[in-house]
Amino acid sequence: MASVRFLTGITTSGTPHLGNYVGSIRPSVRASRTPGVESFYFLADYHALIKIDEPARIQRSTLEIAASWLAAGLDPAHVTFYRQSDIPEIPELTWFLTCVTGKGVLNRAHAYKASVDKNTAAGVDPDADVTAGLFMYPVLMGADILMFNAHKVPVGRDQIQHIEMARDMANSFNHRYGEHFVPPQAEIEESVATLPGLDGRKMSKSYDNTIPLFSSSEQLKKLIAGIKTDSRAPGEPKDTEGSALFQIYQAFASAEETAVLAKAFADGIAWGDAKTMLFERIDREIAPMRAAYEDYMAHPEKVEALLLRGAQKARAIATPFMGRLRQAVGLRSLQAASQAAATKTVKTAAAAFKQYREKDGQFYFKLVDAKGGVLLQSRGFASPKEAGQCIATLVQDGAAALAHNAAQLEPAFDTQAVVGALLDIQRAKE
Ligand code: TRP
Repeated sequence: MASVRFLTGITTSGTPHLGNYVGSIRPSVRASRTPGVESFYFLADYHALIKIDEPARIQRSTLEIAASWLAAGLDPAHVTFYRQSDIPEIPELTWFLTCVTGKGVLNRAHAYKASVDKNTAAGVDPDADVTAGLFMYPVLMGADILMFNAHKVPVGRDQIQHIEMARDMANSFNHRYGEHFVPPQAEIEESVATLPGLDGRKMSKSYDNTIPLFSSSEQLKKLIAGIKTDSRAPGEPKDTEGSALFQIYQAFASAEETAVLAKAFADGIAWGDAKTMLFERIDREIAPMRAAYEDYMAHPEKVEALLLRGAQKARAIATPFMGRLRQAVGLRSLQAASQAAATKTVKTAAAAFKQYREKDGQFYFKLVDAKGGVLLQSRGFASPKEAGQCIATLVQDGAAALAHNAAQLEPAFDTQAVVGALLDIQRAKE
């Protein structure tokens, strides 16, 4: 089944707030339930290292963000939910992409450029306090996306440039080494509101005006009481326009509920009563998730287990794909090279497929090396033809076919060895 692959990362540098929920968590969880969509969500903890050098904070934020997404209904059985640092192929791919990315392109990345401009304006060295990590940020992000050949990347407007850079990296790699990557597209959700914070400016950690997504009910009530309003007395009509309270309400309420509050504003509702309405509306949506969140926070081992399972799923794709990329750039087994030379005269491969039938009546195959050691073992097929077809695609498509046929294969195999053997067989046929 052809499906669209969505992928997005969340930097593990803070505690999720209502703005993150409305702008990212809620729409992503909904989108992940759309049929025909394959979703990848990950905790971008390598990215967090660029901004944060407090180990405990990184760990805490990773747990809080994972627990928030899970509590908000992300189903790890349905999506691939993992932690970036559990996928060693990502830093490896980062290096491959580093080698095909122009330094000049990275010089123009907004975040890096902003730091340089600030230093220049201050009359200090342009690169003062700028780490190479900040400079390389877009390449790491490109590797996140290209590793899984995501078609669409839902991000905020500030990230569009990064997706364009990832497209460039995909194209320059493909140009040099053949078609390996799908150039991704940014997916900007126009209808998703940016939520105002306590002071009316955009809710953001950098303005210190956030309402945490999972504070206690009492804490939530107290924070809402602190939302900035004007000084109009009870009975005086209030403006919905420009009211942070009204906008936050709207992000949680139905059109009908919003119309009711608009009428109450016109009728001169007291600010205190409007805040009570807002608290009750938000709490109605959050309270059922709060219990799940608290449970995950109290049992980090559950979250850890889910993430490790997610990493396994992600690596079932990343490991064979990386094997193919290593081959493509020339990081190859020397044995395979001599083999390639040898097969010019002797058209035999060291490795071979063996097909056989088991007592259960099913048809199987295995890939064995020159010494008869089993490199890859299939599961049962109903007919020898199906087993044969699977072998044919493995020989033809190599690493890509390993990922596509994963359901037909016993998972414990050494990808590098299998990919090498498949290449040998392929060459022997030429
Ligand atoms: N840079 C993104 C942000 O700050 C986080 C991120 C890291 C990301 N890798 C990604 C987003 C890959 C989308 C795809 O929001």
